[in-house]
Amino acid sequence: MTEPRPRKKDPTGTSFPWGPLPADLRRLDREMAQGLGFPSLTDAEFSRLRDWVEKESGIHLTDAKRGLVMGRLAKRVRAVGATGFGAYIERALGSAGPEERARLLDALCTNETHFFREIHHFDFLEKRVFPSWRVTGTTGRIPRHIRAWSAACSTGEEPYTLAMVLLKNFPRSSGWSVEVLGTDLSGHALQRAAAAVWPIEKAAEIPSAFLKSFMRRGTGPEEGKMKAGPEIREAVHFLRLNLCAEVYPVSGAFDLIFCRNVLIYFNWDTKRKVIGRLLSHLAPTGYFFSGHAESLNELSNVVTTLQPTVYRPLRTADSTDPTREAP
Ligand SMILES: C[S@@+](CC[C@H](N)C(=O)[O-])C[C@H]1O[C@@H](n2cnc3c(N)ncnc32)[C@H](O)[C@@H]1O
Repeated sequence: MTEPRPRKKDPTGTSFPWGPLPADLRRLDREMAQGLGFPSLTDAEFSRLRDWVEKESGIHLTDAKRGLVMGRLAKRVRAVGATGFGAYIERALGSAGPEERARLLDALCTNETHFFREIHHFDFLEKRVFPSWRVTGTTGRIPRHIRAWSAACSTGEEPYTLAMVLLKNFPRSSGWSVEVLGTDLSGHALQRAAAAVWPIEKAAEIPSAFLKSFMRRGTGPEEGKMKAGPEIREAVHFLRLNLCAEVYPVSGAFDLIFCRNVLIYFNWDTKRKVIGRLLSHLAPTGYFFSGHAESLNELSNVVTTLQPTVYRPLRTADSTDPTREAP
């Protein structure tokens, strides 16, 4: 497979090659606030918001994110008719109900995602994992049934990609069944994922063989859009799940867990706990995938690295593991 589309630039627009200097950041923040028509977030307001967001979602907002936060909150500030960021935060974290707090988190979450993102993971599955599943006729637990979990699935591109790759390799006609769970903190992102309708431009992210087999061109009110076909819609289901919750409301073990491009927002302690909880839901013979900037190298006491960002529980991956990268 080849990656079909180029990446976007840093959405914060503040990425200097050497990192922004604090004075530059302050100036950029002031200019951002001015442009939005509100006074800048004060240190005290930002710190209150930051503590709450980290407690609720694990997302750690650095000082460098203050401009981004203002940009994302401005819509909510206007929507509730608050006089500025401080007044909005006071209201959202105080008298407002849980709905406004969910909207606040939604606004702060980065939902960027693509079909076939980090395509080497899907190549790894096709070349190194699926052949052995086909030979043994089992994932190691339930014969001919594959369970995959896209934790932090955003608007659905990742779980539908998994469904396409799994169903292409293990079609129902061959006696296999496929189940993909997509979970996320953002209710708004999940609604879009469940609707399974995207702008037609998104088709460019999907290799043509998959596009033809699994996607439909929208018609009528969905003209100019792309819609997931029935086969992948049936295979994927969604659930709101906060990775920072002590217990995850999911049952049974998964053969594949994708937790990509979300661990990067967590501090070390949260990341360690989240991975521990996710691994407790991974089958002993399963595989764990993280995002390109999210190494689990510090966790070599619980996982073995098969290749960068691809892991197995330590107890499974011995030196005879056929999917392990040659030294
Ligand atoms: C950048 S997207 C990554 C989407 C997809 N995994 C990918 O790699 O393309 C990050 C997602 O993590 C979700 N998220 C952030 N904090 C979360 C948490 N505590 N629990 C569950 N999801 C969370 C956000 O809502 C967002 O949809």
